[in-house]
Amino acid sequence: MKLGKRLQTLHDVVTEDYQHIWDCCCDHGQLGAQFLHSSQAHIHFVDVVPMLIAKVKQDLARFFPEAETRYSLYTQDVAKLPLAQYSGRQLVIIAGVGGDLTAELMTSLCCNLRDEVDFLLCPVHHHYTLRQNLQSLPLKVIHESLVEENRRIYEVLYLTSGKTGAAITPLGEAIWQQGTLSKRYLEKTLDHYARVAKGKPEAQAILSAYQHLTL
Ligand SMILES: C[S@@+](CC[C@H](N)C(=O)[O-])C[C@H]1O[C@@H](n2cnc3c(N)ncnc32)[C@H](O)[C@@H]1O
Repeated sequence: MKLGKRLQTLHDVVTEDYQHIWDCCCDHGQLGAQFLHSSQAHIHFVDVVPMLIAKVKQDLARFFPEAETRYSLYTQDVAKLPLAQYSGRQLVIIAGVGGDLTAELMTSLCCNLRDEVDFLLCPVHHHYTLRQNLQSLPLKVIHESLVEENRRIYEVLYLTSGKTGAAITPLGEAIWQQGTLSKRYLEKTLDHYARVAKGKPEAQAILSAYQHLTL
């Protein structure tokens, strides 16, 4: 199965071995299916919509008949995942949902961690406020980058609750070192917040923070 560039980037960023990979807000389940193919991890597919999980179940039975014991399916809210009940290295992926929802889910998941857990996030919009929220959680940056798909640029945030890694910053660090892609992302972001600030004065502070970035 060929993934789009965004999902392929998320897949390729993961170089560690995990015992459990959670494809959260999985919808079609394509990313989890790719990990089912490429890794030894147990893959957990989670979405709140029963019909979507039923379709993923059908697709997995058809395309991975030999891997029946290597995955689990859950129709549930990601905020309530029982991560502390599992042992071994875990990776939680939350991609393709808004930054505000991502922040809510992360706050809920992080208040109940037992062992070290890694997170791979690829939110849609509201990166600044998401990053501000993440700063209040016990997380460090393993890697961050930008990926462009269908003329839309996404931030990829690979984080860990472990001790090693860089501090999370509201604007990001390495995402501004990708040459013309970073330049275009900054232009788009400035345009966006300039528009938002017209109707919402509190966005002026965010606009101003991005205006002070030098690439
Ligand atoms: C646009 S899809 C993202 C699919 C995939 N992760 C991707 O990046 O392409 C968003 C999915 O999030 C699911 N979703 C939204 N809120 C959720 C929650 N709190 N818990 C579980 N799933 C949720 C929706 O049902 C929907 O299928």
